Amino acid sequence: MKTLLFAALLGAALVSAAQGADGEISFEYHRYDELRKALVSVWLQCPTITRIYTIGESFEGREMLVLEMSDNPGAHEPGEPEFKYIANMHGNEAVGRELLVYLAQYLCNQYQQGNETIVDLVHNTRIHIMPSMNPDGFEKAASQSGEIKDWFVGRTNAQGVDLNRNFPDLDRIIYVNEREGGANNHLLQNMKKSVDENTKLAPETKAVIHWIMDIPFVLSANLHGGDVVANYPYDETRTGSAHEYSASPDDEMFKSLAKAYSVYNPVMSDPQRAPCRKNDDDSSFKDGITNGGAWYSVPGGMQDFNYLSSNCFEVTLELSCDKFPSEDSLKSYWEQNRNSLVNYIEQVHRGVKGFVRDLQGNAITNATISVEGIDHDITTAKDGDYWRLLSAGNYKVAASAPGYLTVIKKVAVPPSPATRVDFELESLVERKEEEREELMDWWKMMSETLNF
Ligand SMILES: *[C@@H]1O[C@H](CO)[C@@H](O)[C@H](O)[C@H]1NC(C)=O
Ligand SMILES: *[C@@H]1O[C@H](CO)[C@@H](O)[C@H](O)[C@H]1NC(C)=O
Ligand SMILES: [Zn+2]
Repeated sequence: MKTLLFAALLGAALVSAAQGADGEISFEYHRYDELRKALVSVWLQCPTITRIYTIGESFEGREMLVLEMSDNPGAHEPGEPEFKYIANMHGNEAVGRELLVYLAQYLCNQYQQGNETIVDLVHNTRIHIMPSMNPDGFEKAASQSGEIKDWFVGRTNAQGVDLNRNFPDLDRIIYVNEREGGANNHLLQNMKKSVDENTKLAPETKAVIHWIMDIPFVLSANLHGGDVVANYPYDETRTGSAHEYSASPDDEMFKSLAKAYSVYNPVMSDPQRAPCRKNDDDSSFKDGITNGGAWYSVPGGMQDFNYLSSNCFEVTLELSCDKFPSEDSLKSYWEQNRNSLVNYIEQVHRGVKGFVRDLQGNAITNATISVEGIDHDITTAKDGDYWRLLSAGNYKVAASAPGYLTVIKKVAVPPSPATRVDFELESLVERKEEEREELMDWWKMMSETLNF
């Protein structure tokens, strides 16, 4: 009896020790209702730093739920960067969906335990977590009987649309602009209305387009399954060929971002890792990362859309050979990915950030931030705040806006954290007035001297 009781207590102690590290995480699949409940329970546990909202509904009317984490949920704080994770865009790719639920639970637990890394992260970042972009597809995939799921069932939304081929194909526009001149960012700027009227876009795609364009996201990742690699832009090749390295202007930063994920994932970064399947062509993989186009061309994907329609940099994470692995393997996927998931969020605090204001201190919204040598501008948000992700190095950064004199600054960027660089722009009207006053003074002086 005594030994048994002791064994039971020891068991309980071991369980709570394990929970000390990973809190109340229950490593299981969550169907739609369970997912809702899991997010609500995070909110109930950490109400001061979380909020649940929905960005819209799937074709079959399921909510596209987001859990937000921040010290000020529900609001953009001037100067604070915004981050998002999206998973389960292909409904049958289930690992990412569960990892994001566990991540929400982990961040809440660690925050409560006073883990400084996590407390700092939550206080200085507005984090948005969407475990499922395709809740209809997931229900379809999950309702197949038996452990082994079909490779395709549930991939698309309920209309049969592959959501990662459904975004406006902005690569085709940028590739023309590269040759012939034209905008190098925000390519959908004055076409928002055409998004609403476009009948080819699935409701899930439309909801995410609005989300991307309404919130000043800086960094993002899109979690998939079926392979193990961190994939970065561009996803669509310039020539239309099936495999071709397709560098974006931010190729260096994107490689660094993809590596910031892969390096903490021992399976992804393992140079000896065998391909998921015998016939897979992983020749473009190196250090657990790959350029999208070099792997295979994807037109209409979400990753390139983020970069070309907004200020947000996104990579695509392939997290498991199995798209829908057995439930008892979920804990090991969490262990493989936990540090990567946290480290990747921290990348949002790199490069240059600050405010653009006029000489009276008023915010200048939609000012352009350009970096010499990188043909991709970003813009300031509502409060004149901006975040320009850059890898370590020396840069010339310019802030400009119509009606203002451009200001250029030299900046030394460390690996992290971001360097604060504010800009004060003089308006051309003010400049003209100054010049006129100078002229008047001169004229007065001349008249007095010459005794007109
Ligand atoms: C705090 O969180 C970081 C990031 O997830 C983790 O590496 C570290 O182990 C945590 N510290 C403790 C004491 O759990
Ligand atoms: C932002 O600025 C660009 C170029 O200066 C302009 O084309 C665009 O219409 C502006 N957008 C808004 C929302 O004001
Ligand atoms: Zn996928």
